[in-house]
Amino acid sequence: METKVISGVVFSRLPSSYIRPESDRPRLSEVLECNDVPVIDLGCKDRGLLVKQIGDACREYGFFQVINHGVPKELADSMVKVAHEFFSLSVEEKMKLYSDDPTKTMRLSTSFNVRKETIHNWRDYLRLHCYPLEKYAPEWPSNPSSFRDIVSAYCIEVRALGFRLQEAISESLGLQKDNLKDVLGEQGQHMAINYYPACPEPDLTYGLPAHTDPNALTILLQDLQVAGLQVLKDGKWLAIKPQPDAFVINLGDQIQAFSNGKYRSVWHRAVVNANRARLSVASFLCPCDSANISAPKELTTGDDQAVYTDFTYAEYYKKFWSRNLDQEHCLELFKN
Ligand code: OGA
Ligand code: NI
Repeated sequence: METKVISGVVFSRLPSSYIRPESDRPRLSEVLECNDVPVIDLGCKDRGLLVKQIGDACREYGFFQVINHGVPKELADSMVKVAHEFFSLSVEEKMKLYSDDPTKTMRLSTSFNVRKETIHNWRDYLRLHCYPLEKYAPEWPSNPSSFRDIVSAYCIEVRALGFRLQEAISESLGLQKDNLKDVLGEQGQHMAINYYPACPEPDLTYGLPAHTDPNALTILLQDLQVAGLQVLKDGKWLAIKPQPDAFVINLGDQIQAFSNGKYRSVWHRAVVNANRARLSVASFLCPCDSANISAPKELTTGDDQAVYTDFTYAEYYKKFWSRNLDQEHCLELFKN
């Protein structure tokens, strides 16, 4: 089989299929260092304060970091370690898991959506469905041998964290804590283990171009050593410095829709660098396929008419994957 992944392959120049046109390059020198991304202490005993901090962050940024989040440090460290071990396997070993079919529940792939895109992205990724675990864990990689146990334990913790955040987000909208979770239904959980190899010409390409996440909530664990995540705020790209023992949380399109546009599913991207590979582990909580996504009536009264049409998550997800990544916000296609 043709080698399609880029991790473990040596490149002295960036292949032409990765080169973006001049007008669509990361312009790394214009990116601002961001030191004031909200860092929210989930150990805070004052519920009112915590909920207010989360609400402010969701409204102003659409993303924030959390500390004292309850996921054991050793587990997060093991997750990153085993992910690195996976991407250190030989190209032949990894290619056994390769697929460019987005409907597969376990696959190693590259770039974003190689069937749709014309310019590729400097990323390999392992994408896993994670809920229910008993159904999906048996199809995960068995090499490294500890992979399934570590990733399973990590998935359970991250899911619990996600639910706690969704309760606080719901409260911050002035709703009951379970309101958001009730609308999302029995949530699915996916993971993308992203691996961005060192890139010979990082100014000419992306690891992931600007996009919003189509799901409800994303919980990102970043390699501490190597930065690369950038978020769009007030028209400027901000580089997010990885913080020890923190997760980056970003709202996905479904929470933007649920909040009637009050909260933002933020544009973000990953850039690459010439010196070091970067790894990130993104966990996505996704509404149940049949969930009917609509803003509660408390958020659509008076001047606040419903911004979006009602849709099911299955409809939304299908639309998302039928497009290329760097097009308009997918939610724009569901406006009233
Ligand atoms: C994603 C994503 C960012 C990163 O996987 O959706 O935005 O830093 N990842 O890897
Ligand atoms: Ni993303």
